[in-house]
Parts: sequence; structure tokens; C-alpha cells
Amino acid sequence: MTDKRRVSMHGQWSSRWAFILAATGSAVGLGNIWKFPYITGANGGGAFVIVYLICIAIIGIPIMMAEVMLGRRGRQSPINSMLSLSKEEGSHKGWQIVGWSGMIAGFLILSYYSVIAGWALAYVFRAATGMFTGATAEGIEGIYNELVSDPERLLAWHTLFMVMTMVVVARGVRSGLEQAVRFLMPALFVILLILVGYAMSTGSFMDGIRFLFTPDFSKISKAGILIALGHAFFTLSLGMGAIMIYGSYMTDDASIAKTSFAVAIADTLVALLAGMAIFPIVFAYGLEPGAGPGLIFKTLPLAFGQMPGGPFFGMLFFILLVFAAWSSSISLIEPLVAWLVENHNMNRVTASVMSGIFAWLLGIATIFSFNLMSGVKLFGKTFFDLLDFLTANIMLPLGGLFIAIFATWVMSRESSRDELALVGKAEPVYFIWYFLTRFITPIAVIVVFLNAIGVL
Ligand code: PHE
Repeated sequence: MTDKRRVSMHGQWSSRWAFILAATGSAVGLGNIWKFPYITGANGGGAFVIVYLICIAIIGIPIMMAEVMLGRRGRQSPINSMLSLSKEEGSHKGWQIVGWSGMIAGFLILSYYSVIAGWALAYVFRAATGMFTGATAEGIEGIYNELVSDPERLLAWHTLFMVMTMVVVARGVRSGLEQAVRFLMPALFVILLILVGYAMSTGSFMDGIRFLFTPDFSKISKAGILIALGHAFFTLSLGMGAIMIYGSYMTDDASIAKTSFAVAIADTLVALLAGMAIFPIVFAYGLEPGAGPGLIFKTLPLAFGQMPGGPFFGMLFFILLVFAAWSSSISLIEPLVAWLVENHNMNRVTASVMSGIFAWLLGIATIFSFNLMSGVKLFGKTFFDLLDFLTANIMLPLGGLFIAIFATWVMSRESSRDELALVGKAEPVYFIWYFLTRFITPIAVIVVFLNAIGVL
């Protein structure tokens, strides 16, 4: 390690554990429990899962290490970290564009993320009041349709969630969620296990497992491969600076490789558990795996309606889902807030409130895309679908591509080796990382893009 280390003006995590918790909090969110099952269902199951897992292993983990490394070395918002590092490495200051595009992507994602998290909030109350008890699949579908077709109600829940996000970001990440996440993540894990237990009792458990884990490559399209790649970035919070800025608050002595592994494994486990809880229910009740964004809201309530203690477990599940979303949403907006503080002399509170208000406003378009404007489509997609596609499948992989290029083609090996501190016995890990990040990631992202637009 060099002795001229930067210090972040925004503070630092209290320990290596705090970083793991915060990064896991960012990674584990709606992406794992809400999005992973519905895109898996819509893209044919097993083959999609395999492509997704390969993307996590050979692209996601190396990019996560690269992002944490750049963040810890730059110790500022992604824009300013990229600026400082490009100067330091004798390169062009245009690399800050990686920070810009990430900051914009995070803002765009937050705008719709908050709307969906609002659904989860609404479901806490629906579960707790026993609305699901004994309900049929049609009844549960009706509850869902009633919610998403009412813009006013969606707006109320979206507003509440955005306020929750702003409050934590305004307080600073360390005294905000760091404590809560410590208990909530393990609790979420336990309740997912309970749900998997229920799924086992439905008699369709093996159908669900087969759907998830038996690949049939004829079922995955070129677009499906792009969605799997995009989701690997989305679920690990990569390609937009969230993990970079969390890295900028990391202590100097923490191992970047070990912590990145831990986060990626926890995240993947949660996604697979969610799939194992949901698909058996889908098949047991003859529902449609490709039902789209409403999938978990149409399936899990059936389970809560049948199991003993359903209202309690249902309420607990949706509370935990809200927390998982909450610890992700703060990381979506943190790059923007940190940048406003650094460059515009704002205090955290003003910066958080301003960013939150703008993201809230944009979120209204997502709300309408589920009701008043559900017929308005561009390229066959509603506003929400388009925003999700543009951010997760285009902006994040592109961001990741440039991060990979910067970390291994622009930055010197001395710098990356110094920051990653993979020496002695860990030397081979450095070389695997270097090889994957320098060659495999850029090639894979470019090939998947070309493939998706039909060039290959
Ligand atoms: N990883 C989060 C999830 O899976 C979403 C997210 C994406 C958070 C990008 C931060 C940055 O829900």
C-alpha cells in the first residue's frame, strides 16, 4: 500500500464487516426477490438461470472487485474518483463519463424502484389484515390488479418509500442503515427458508426445481441472454457506481477479493431461494411463470393464505422485502448525493431531499405506465419496461465495460495490485482477476450486445 492515501470527506465504514453488510444490503433487493423470478419465468427458466450464474461468476465478481478498488483508491463520488484516478494514471479526464452515466442510471433506477417498493409496503398491510387468508388465485390476482390500477394509491406508497430513502441518505449511510441491515438480512434469509419449506409441501416442488435448474437452451432468446447479463449487473449493483462509492468508504485493510466474493455469494443465494419458493407455487396453482412484474405479488400471497400463521409470516416477509429494497435504494442515490456535496457545496440534507424529489417526480411516469398509460408503448414496451431495459440491460453493462477497461487497460498493474493487495499466496487470484477483467468481461459484454442487436 502506498502511504499517500486519500481520505473520504463523507466518512468511512466502521469495519470490514460494515462494508460487507452495506454492500450486501445494496446488492440484495427487489432484484433478487421480485425481478429475478419474473424475468426467469419470462425467459424460459433453467437456461436463463445458467447464463445468469455464468455472468455472475466471470463478469460480476471481477467487476465488483474492480469497482471497489477504483472507489477505495479514489475515495470520492464516482465522477470525482474517476477524474482523480484518470489524472493519476496519466490518462484522459473524459473517463469521468463512467461516473456520470452511472449517476444518471442510479437516479433513473431509483425512480421506478421506489414505485415497486411501494407495492411491497402496500402488501405489508394486506398481509397483516388477513386479506389473503383462504383466497383463491383469482382473488389474489384481483387484489394485485386493484392496487396497480389505482394511481393515487400507488403514488401514496411511492411517496412514503421515497421519503424513507431520503431520511436515511440525509443522515449519512453509517448511522442510517448500517445497524438495521445487521439484523434484517439474516431475518430475510430465514423467512425465505420458511417459504421454501412451504413450497416443498405443495407437491409441485420438483416442477419448480426442474423449471429453475434444467436448462433447455432452445427456450432462451438472444434478448434473453442480454437480460441475463443485465440482471447480473443489476442484482450485484454494478456498473453504476453504487459499489464504487461504497468502496470509497471502505477501510484500507479490508480484502477486496474476499468481501466481493462474500457479497456475490449471499446475493446469488437469496435469488435462488426466492426462485425455489416461488416456482413451486406457480406450478401448484397452475399460474403463468411469465406473468411479468406482478409475479411474486400474485404467487406468494397464495402461500400466505394457506399456511398456518399466514398473516404473520406474510407481513414479516413484506416488511423484510421493504427493508431489502430500502438498503438498495439508498445506494442508488448515494453517488448523486455525494457528488452534489462535493461539487456544489450542498449539505447532505439538501442534496438528499433535492435528489429524492426529482426521482419521485420521474417515478410518477412509472406509476402511470401500470394504469392510465399502460397502452402507451414505444418499441412494444411501456414506460416502465423501457426504463428498466435501458438502465439494467444497456447502461449498467456499458458502465461495467468501461470500468473493466479502465481498471486493466488504463490503470497500471502497480496501482491495481497495490490497491487489491493480492500478493504472496493470493497472487494467482490477482492474475485470474486481471485476465477476466481485461479480456473476458469486455469481450463478453460486446458479444452479448452484438448478438442482441442481431449482428452475430
Ligand atoms: N442490486 C439491487 C437489487 O438487486 C438494485 C440496485 C442496482 C441497487 C444498482 C444499486 C445499484 O435490487
